[in-house]
Amino acid sequence: MGEPDKSTIQELVRTAAEARKTAYAPYSRYRVGAALLAADGQIFTGCNIENAAYTPTICAERTAFFKAVSEGVREFRAIAVAGSPEGDALTQYAWPCGVCRQVMAEFCDPDEFRIIAAGPAGAYRMAALRELLPESFGPANLG
Ligand code: THU
Repeated sequence: MGEPDKSTIQELVRTAAEARKTAYAPYSRYRVGAALLAADGQIFTGCNIENAAYTPTICAERTAFFKAVSEGVREFRAIAVAGSPEGDALTQYAWPCGVCRQVMAEFCDPDEFRIIAAGPAGAYRMAALRELLPESFGPANLG
């Protein structure tokens, strides 16, 4: 498997940026979109959804994962993340938070699954899950 081909990566980056438009972030004003590629080729999108009580806030990445899993999909290849302070343009590379990395570790092969951080002007950076969450605690510990 390994990393998706370049046109697929670019599609994920574009889709994450599009999903960012639906972010509900009135408190932080930091908007995030995600595009999660399943093994069967489906793409699940997500955005961050904040809450006046703060702690119920969910990140874009987990929104995408939970949408997919709740639809019966559990095998994944890659996720693109597009995050920046409000404004249409991406002005930085946003890597997933630790909680989202842990959710990825529940469902994804750490050496195969790729995380793509979208940046300014269509640029991106990519890493394997193991690079972002080394020595993780996961399903194998309990199995
Ligand atoms: N956020 C995400 O959606 N994904 C990340 O990887 C980092 C943070 C959201 C949560 C919150 O709504 C806002 O960005 C600021 O932390």
